[in-house]
Amino acid sequence: MTILVTGGAGYIGSHTCVALVEAGYDLVVVDSFANSRPEALGRVQQITGREFPVYPVDLLDERGLDAVFEAQPVEAVIHFAALKAVGESVADPLRYYRNNVGGSISLFQTMERHGVTRLVFSSSATVYGAAEQMPLTEESPLGPVNPYGRTKWMVEQILRDQCAARPDWSVALLRYFNPVGAHASGRIGEDPSGVPNNLLPYVTQVAVGRLEQLTIHGDDYPTPDGTCIRDYVHVMDIAEGHVNALQHVLMTTGIEAFNLGTGRGSSVLEVVAAFEAATGIDIPRRVGPRRNGDAPVSYAGVDKAKQQLGWQAKRDLTEMCADAWRWQRENPQGYGV
Ligand SMILES: NC(=O)c1ccc[n+]([C@@H]2O[C@H](COP(=O)([O-])OP(=O)(O)OC[C@H]3O[C@@H](n4cnc5c(N)ncnc54)[C@H](O)[C@@H]3O)[C@@H](O)[C@H]2O)c1
Repeated sequence: MTILVTGGAGYIGSHTCVALVEAGYDLVVVDSFANSRPEALGRVQQITGREFPVYPVDLLDERGLDAVFEAQPVEAVIHFAALKAVGESVADPLRYYRNNVGGSISLFQTMERHGVTRLVFSSSATVYGAAEQMPLTEESPLGPVNPYGRTKWMVEQILRDQCAARPDWSVALLRYFNPVGAHASGRIGEDPSGVPNNLLPYVTQVAVGRLEQLTIHGDDYPTPDGTCIRDYVHVMDIAEGHVNALQHVLMTTGIEAFNLGTGRGSSVLEVVAAFEAATGIDIPRRVGPRRNGDAPVSYAGVDKAKQQLGWQAKRDLTEMCADAWRWQRENPQGYGV
């Protein structure tokens, strides 16, 4: 069975390609390489020992997409392709709405023209509003606070409308919490462009000497150690969650949202301590001011994914740190030379 993966050269996409091949699926990848390098897919092919077609097509290019669907027997789509930098989305909202919402509509129209009705969509925990009550469940109120989060929320709404109009469609909206880590081979991993926005890539770049020290954004939050708490989840657990979600959409119709997280929160200081313990490297740090829009605590309710997808995260924080470090140590400049 052939699965089209959009954004397959990206961080989560590349790891999911490995999991899909291992689960026995045939792949076709579409990626504009706007935020990734073809090398990532070369490495996926090395890890899996399998070749698959790769189309350097932008989702906004509907004719280009048509050609892919004409050439390949696509039966379902996993849709990762999007821009994801919150700060950039605040500075350049039109680019984000055009790429993430416009690109998604272009993809869904192409699917419709070709009779493809099964979809797994990369949503995000950023669709949830500021919540007092943890964990966040799929029923928690939505209310994203930046343009990036609103692109995810809008695509979720578009897909709900589409599924209401087309009862033969089947869609899983996967709301990821904080994906971290890398494939255990150290051959693929997260390769952010510029200074990382996320904690663990920042820590690994300090450890490898690319950055001088870690800045902790605020240590006066109402949490036990004063730093923000997030639900970090291993990227290979997330990747395997896509295989379960794919099996789910192949067997059902309708639309459902699922949180992908561990259900456990870790503070910034706990992550740094786990990294230091896993690697034996000290991370120099300083405390800076809070960042706008950071909630003190966020972690996932994971019962729905467990019950309906049969999925739960298996890897712990130590494994996340060890794998992230192996990737960074063996690829100090990421996929660059
Ligand atoms: N990484 C996270 O922390 C996180 C958390 C929640 C949700 N998500 C979502 O998961 C998905 C994957 O995230 P990621 O971390 O792998 O990001 P990434 O930037 O590494 O990968 C996205 C890929 O999509 C491609 N792309 C972007 N726009 C495209 C377009 N118009 N046409 C074709 N290709 C295009 C990029 O080149 C890149 O390869 C995204 O939708 C992201 O919003 C990520």
